[in-house]
Amino acid sequence: MSKHKILETPRLRLRPLEFSDFDRIVEFMGQQSVTDFLLFFTHPIIPEQVREWLKNVIEAKPEQCAYWAIIEKSQDKLIGILSLTMDSFHHKTEMGYWLDRDYWGMGYMPEAAWRSIEYVFEDLKLHRVDLTHMVANIRSQHVAQKLGFQLEGCWREGHFKNGTYKDVKIYGMLEVDYLRARKQRSQMPDSPA
Ligand SMILES: CC(C)(COP(=O)(O)OP(=O)(O)OC[C@H]1O[C@@H](n2cnc3c(N)ncnc32)[C@H](O)[C@@H]1OP(=O)(O)O)[C@@H](O)C(=O)NCCC(=O)NCCS
Repeated sequence: MSKHKILETPRLRLRPLEFSDFDRIVEFMGQQSVTDFLLFFTHPIIPEQVREWLKNVIEAKPEQCAYWAIIEKSQDKLIGILSLTMDSFHHKTEMGYWLDRDYWGMGYMPEAAWRSIEYVFEDLKLHRVDLTHMVANIRSQHVAQKLGFQLEGCWREGHFKNGTYKDVKIYGMLEVDYLRARKQRSQMPDSPA
């Protein structure tokens, strides 16, 4: 598989993460609300852990994962990260995302995530996207619903975070769900997401 593409949306550019993003990532992931529902990062953020993680994702093969920096184009600023973890055996991928707290509630993540979903089905020709979130993460639930993911169930106490077990909602998007969502979007041409 060749390197993952740079993806464009009306307001955003998704480009592969770079080592020079380190300081900005540590800065925005220092906000507690950003890591509250993330699995592998806790508050306060540990810069050395971020450095190790960044090295691993930059050096990973395209068949393993895609990690994009989400750049807000008008300010040329990194405002978040979107990831796809590949499972080539099952022709599927798992999506992950997180955004600087200052940019929540403006539809940026649905916009970025939809572009990556187009990439999954149109370019990579995969069959399915997985998505999970802790039940209390209502914002992520809204993102999943807006994108057209189908709720498939719940892992009871499926994630361990901050010393307790959390229930986790599990979603999937098959190509048929993508085509349905794409059709609905084509009937709402003014939506930036
Ligand atoms: C989850 C996240 C990516 C959402 O991105 P976003 O760009 O802010 O998404 P949106 O702008 O569509 O806002 C999400 C929804 O939250 C809703 N929302 C806003 N304030 C809210 C609040 N106080 N409580 C609950 N929902 C709220 C918005 O109304 C919106 O839903 P709607 O448009 O259907 O009404 C972002 O909140 C984030 O980075 N959170 C921390 C990291 C994280 O949890 N990642 C996901 C792990 S599974």
